[in-house]
Amino acid sequence: MANRVLLLTLLAITCTMSFAFEPSPLQDFCVADATSSVRVNGLACMDSKLVQAGHFSFSGLHLVGNTSNPLGSRVTPVTVAQLPGLNTLGIALARLDYAPWGLIPPHMHPRATEVLTVLEGSLEVGFVASNPENRFISKVLQKGDVFVFPVGLPHFQRNVGYGNAVSLSALSSQNPGVITIANAVFGSNPSVSGDVLAKAFQVDKTVIDQLQSTF
Ligand SMILES: *[C@@H]1O[C@H](CO)[C@@H](O)[C@H](O)[C@H]1NC(C)=O
Repeated sequence: MANRVLLLTLLAITCTMSFAFEPSPLQDFCVADATSSVRVNGLACMDSKLVQAGHFSFSGLHLVGNTSNPLGSRVTPVTVAQLPGLNTLGIALARLDYAPWGLIPPHMHPRATEVLTVLEGSLEVGFVASNPENRFISKVLQKGDVFVFPVGLPHFQRNVGYGNAVSLSALSSQNPGVITIANAVFGSNPSVSGDVLAKAFQVDKTVIDQLQSTF
């Protein structure tokens, strides 16, 4: 009987933990204190008596991002780094601007699911599921369409219209993180050995050298 209670208790604790991807808040708010040197999972809380409305606010998301770069895209993040009131709340936001045919290259967020809404233009979006299927799921979205990228899976967005495009993403972490696949593989610091990459990609090492030199 005691064993059964213990088992059920353990099961209950495990279930509770798996429902919340980031730890649930233990207080109303915990505005990030950028000056604190305390090391915690997340950021230390400011003294709540010093907290102001400005700590819960961010301005400028109406501004068009500068897409004059080789990818033709720009991310304007609103994570805990820009909005300290997000600390411990498990949510963040980003504005994405795309020039015609602009691309947000394949990348993943290690800590967040992303829900994207197209505000302007048409986007081709897609993600790839994990091994062994590596199934590619993609769709062309129009203004007002919403698409979800499940946590951790590689995904991309591309403007497939002749005008500029804009989308807004909500992410299920105060600090979603981003791993851009091409940069992680060919542009790491220090570099991953060319022999490792040549075998992994089944190409000649000269191909790897060329790719590494562009990042
Ligand atoms: C946009 O970025 C480019 C490249 O960095 C720069 O030359 C240009 O001045 C920027 N435009 C604006 C309006 O900031």
